[in-house]
Amino acid sequence: MDIARTPSTPEGNPEMADAAREPKAPATIRREDYRPFAWLVPEVSLDFDLGLESTKVVATLTVRRNPNAEASPTIRLNGDALVPVRVKVDGEATTSWAMDDDDLLVSLPGDAHQIEVTTHINPTENTALMGLFASNGMLCTQCEAEGFRRITFFPDRPDVLSTYRVRMSGPTALFPVLLSNGNLESEGEGEGGTHWAEWHDPWPKPSYLFALVAGDLIANSDTFTTMSGREVALNIWVRESDEGRTGHAMESLKKSMRWDEEVFGREYDLDLFNIVAVSDFNMGAMENKGLNVFNTKYVLADEDTATDGDFDGVEGVIAHEYFHNWSGNRVTCRDWFQLSLKEGFTVLRDQLFSQDMGSAPVKRIEDVRVLRGAQFPEDSGPLAHPIRPDSYREISNFYTATIYNKGAEVIRMMRTMAGEEAFRKGTDLYFDRHDGEAATCEDFVKAMEDGAGLDLEQFRWWYSQAGTPKVTVRLEHEGDTATLHLAQDVPPTPGQPKKQPMPIPLKLALFDRESAQHHGEQLVVLNKAEDSLSFTGFAKRPVLSINRGFSAPVSIERDIAQDDLVFLAAHDDDPFARYEALQDLVVGHLKTVVSGELDNTARDHARSAITSAIASVLADEALDDLMRGELLILPSETYLAETMLIADPGRIHAERQALRTHIGKALESEFVDLHERASSVPYSLSAEARGARKVKTQALIYLGAGNPERAADLAAAQYDAADNMTDRQGALLVLCGLQGVERTNKLIDFYNRYQGNALVVDKWFALQAGSMHPSALAHVKALADHPDFTMKNPNRVRSLYMAFAYNPHAFHAEDGEGYRLIADVILALDPINPQTAARFVPQLGRWRRIEPGRSALMRKQLERIAAAPGLSRDTHEQVSRSLD
Ligand code: TRP
Ligand code: ZN
Repeated sequence: MDIARTPSTPEGNPEMADAAREPKAPATIRREDYRPFAWLVPEVSLDFDLGLESTKVVATLTVRRNPNAEASPTIRLNGDALVPVRVKVDGEATTSWAMDDDDLLVSLPGDAHQIEVTTHINPTENTALMGLFASNGMLCTQCEAEGFRRITFFPDRPDVLSTYRVRMSGPTALFPVLLSNGNLESEGEGEGGTHWAEWHDPWPKPSYLFALVAGDLIANSDTFTTMSGREVALNIWVRESDEGRTGHAMESLKKSMRWDEEVFGREYDLDLFNIVAVSDFNMGAMENKGLNVFNTKYVLADEDTATDGDFDGVEGVIAHEYFHNWSGNRVTCRDWFQLSLKEGFTVLRDQLFSQDMGSAPVKRIEDVRVLRGAQFPEDSGPLAHPIRPDSYREISNFYTATIYNKGAEVIRMMRTMAGEEAFRKGTDLYFDRHDGEAATCEDFVKAMEDGAGLDLEQFRWWYSQAGTPKVTVRLEHEGDTATLHLAQDVPPTPGQPKKQPMPIPLKLALFDRESAQHHGEQLVVLNKAEDSLSFTGFAKRPVLSINRGFSAPVSIERDIAQDDLVFLAAHDDDPFARYEALQDLVVGHLKTVVSGELDNTARDHARSAITSAIASVLADEALDDLMRGELLILPSETYLAETMLIADPGRIHAERQALRTHIGKALESEFVDLHERASSVPYSLSAEARGARKVKTQALIYLGAGNPERAADLAAAQYDAADNMTDRQGALLVLCGLQGVERTNKLIDFYNRYQGNALVVDKWFALQAGSMHPSALAHVKALADHPDFTMKNPNRVRSLYMAFAYNPHAFHAEDGEGYRLIADVILALDPINPQTAARFVPQLGRWRRIEPGRSALMRKQLERIAAAPGLSRDTHEQVSRSLD
């Protein structure tokens, strides 16, 4: 007979006490401590009796000893706040188990057994949105990284691969659709208005890729024929009222499937591919095998409710999750230290895909902007870590811009050094060698060496060293020789005081000043602390264009004349380098004004140099508007702060705005003309029309600084005439930063128009929280009391408070009110959703790089959080690392 245990006495058999007293899992997990798991779990069968408030789970695991691991008399099954209601071994109830903190230890005498464990969970109470949770009346899972242990006891680690059979049953009216990984094998009616379904996934997978969805959903269905001629059924599941907004996601999915065949030779491997959109989700989306789960933000799009940026977001995330089917699922990670193996590689793959689908140079510039805005600050602060970390306390804190975006840059460098063809040989070998395995970053590098023919011995430092390398560049000219002096410095980061030089691939070109031509681009790999290179045949001093295409994720310090930057901003044939020259011109200028090192004459000279560079961007007919819009974007306040050792956010904001005002005034009629020209282009998704919308709002932004009244009129007119969200949101963004009645009118109109559409109401919150308006902080406080605001929905929390925390002038209010507000948010959110709460900490963690007055106030708030009782592991780790 089974022994049913009550939740209050889960202590198991006293004979197991010794096992229970084995050393506890250390608070800090270290990469060097990796050991293979003692048991293999070839088969898992899960039986769910579904209910919103109470779901019963019976898990049956087939286990046998792992011949390649140290033997153990017990098996450790991870749990997270679970109670083992019943435990059986080989079909018999047993008392040979014990709890060790949250884990269940079961003693196993033989080499092969079957374990059955029953648990009960409450999805409605699950506000952390990890494990099985309720969202909008549906049930949904999120298991990466360690959510499966909130559903049932299991070796919840990515190197344990099993095939899954899932049976679920529940009330038909509540859950008409029942989905899991793999293929639907059978379904039927049950008793009392219930039904059931049985799913089987033939591909062995780790527990983090398990998924289950039950709810009232309808599908946009289509098919895709793979390169070997297999037909795959595609479904995008949403709530009924959202079906009309799934077309773009479906097109993106089919394009992704084709592209991965053509560019990486990767074919889909099941007859079915399901995507489900949920409105409560901690991140963008999740690549569960055959059943991707998405934040609605990355599925739903139509012209009335989604901007051009949102359309790109959907396309990019659909691609990203789909590409994980090979880079992540077929080849997965040995342990979570290898996270960048799947994430860095998959980000690179989605970036290359988006480059191919739209404007490649513009996509590259956008990706670099994200890297510099999010990853560079991370790499220079207290949370800096290598793309393959050595230790962590809470793995959720390591889903970072470093793992994802720097990880992608590191693989992109290998591709640059190998060339596209050899790179493909490397990835082919990698997939071939490690298909069906849980692999390491080292495996990837080795496959690149063997397949692409690269020597990556020194390159491996990119995996183990944190910090953004600084490359100093100086060009000397004498006679007919130009000599390039390069030096690299990898700055110290927490736990890594001394660094080794790394191979840094730099694409460069030397321009002849008169003809504005160069003799071809070269790739130079700087692999020493210092090096010099000579180029002959230059009677006159050439102009150097370096790190073209952003060939290496480094910061370049170049000793270059302002005139040369103006030259490159006008003539460089590499679009990224051209953008970069203009950025450098602005960054260089703002750095000196902010530091107070510039007299008025020099300031006026620099301002007019920048203004004329912008004027040529406006006049250049060879530029398309997408690229023109890109060139018009001033470097962000965050990036400017990053280029300074100690930043004064108040001064940076004031000087950047002053420059924008200067340009807006000087080029007022040009911006008005541009706005008018662009306004006549009708709506479509063509590059031309998208470009027109981009420059239209850029023009309004400059006019908003140069002539606010005129900008308000034009923005109000753009808002009223808008037949799409890009124009409407762009106009409202500008109005939000201005004073006056149009601001209020259009905010009210926008809310009334889109009330009830959660994703658009998110925009309404975010526009106000992220605005240039001097009272943005007060607006945010008031919006927290709006009936549509809730701490339970991560999209809503991010739309109000992330937008605010990343709005420098508001967050860095001189009296510290912004810091206090974010600390309050962290403390209030931590018990509800620790993962999301912890994501606010890095902004406060920047205190060492901020001027002394504000710095002390930031630190004070971190200390207040640290002192709070009962902090989650997530928030606690981030706060303590930030204070160390
Ligand atoms: N693996 C997912 C991706 O990058 C992201 C992810 C990791 C995630 N952990 C999550 C999503 C937790 C939601 C919740 O594609
Ligand atoms: Zn991913």
